[in-house]
Amino acid sequence: MIVTTKDLFKHAYGKYAVGAYNINNAEQAMGLFRGCIESKSPFIIQISKGARSYTDKRMLEAIIRAADQIFPDAIFAVHLDHGDEAACMDCISSGFYSSIMIDASHESYEKNIEITHRVALAAHAKGIVVEAELGQLGGVEEHVSVSEDKAHLTDPNQARDFVTRSGCDSLACAIGTSHGAFKFSGSQGIHFDVLEKIKNLLPGFPLVMHGSSSVPQDEVARINAAGGVLKGAKGVDENQLLKAAKLGVCKINIDTDGRLVWCRVHREEFKTHPENFDLRPPGKVFMAEYAKYIVHKNTMLGSNNQLDDLRKTL
Ligand code: G3H
Ligand code: 13P
Ligand code: ZN
Repeated sequence: MIVTTKDLFKHAYGKYAVGAYNINNAEQAMGLFRGCIESKSPFIIQISKGARSYTDKRMLEAIIRAADQIFPDAIFAVHLDHGDEAACMDCISSGFYSSIMIDASHESYEKNIEITHRVALAAHAKGIVVEAELGQLGGVEEHVSVSEDKAHLTDPNQARDFVTRSGCDSLACAIGTSHGAFKFSGSQGIHFDVLEKIKNLLPGFPLVMHGSSSVPQDEVARINAAGGVLKGAKGVDENQLLKAAKLGVCKINIDTDGRLVWCRVHREEFKTHPENFDLRPPGKVFMAEYAKYIVHKNTMLGSNNQLDDLRKTL
């Protein structure tokens, strides 16, 4: 069942976080749905601009519609990840997305508010909810690359003004994480002091944390042992995710970890079976391994076993 992120956040706020996982193809969709059903977790499917054009946006929508039928117990939101204004408007008019992110965080403060407000008006008219971003994460996203010196944390003092004037329904905050597999060079981590300030200034308002992959070190080691070259890859300590959830983070974005599972499975498969040229053997292993990863991550987010209770609130 497709619901809005607002429905999910109402149930999760202050207790657990909903995993927001990016998908690009049918194998990722199958692993994600299997893992969320097994862990009895609500979830958010994220589709980036790059994912929409990887095959065709209609292909991804069809995959998700099919998965909704194959897994009738699933409760999830379909969300546009890091949309610009044009992508947001396209998703609003498609009628398929229950939630969109307008990412104008690279613009000036006033311009960010202006663009977000325009998108929020159009989205709300169709019952679609809107995530916006204040502050800037480091790392690479599909349409924006942000160097470490340009990245900046969310200013808690701007948060309330931004939310009120832009009309967004949830706020992605830059609190020390970044996109991709190389998040920290030393012992940096989530800036809980900044998060706590934002939460206190916006009590009850759903916050979002991007760049939340944990980049499991055993995964990186296996990739490297099978021919990969990922030196110094490091992610967010997954033991800190639930702490962030208790401080109002309702949505935790994870993409890179799924790519690492894909990379490890395929490298190992073709190293162990160099004679193989069939896509299905690694595809089957990937779906099972990704489902296993999702079960584990949902447990770390505290979203496991929430499905039945959430269903009663809808
Ligand atoms: O934050 C970005 C996500 O990881 C999506 O990545 O734009 O390459 O699909 P992508
Ligand atoms: P990661 O690169 O840490 O997986 O972050 C994904 C993300 O924020 C998608 O919006
Ligand atoms: Zn992101």
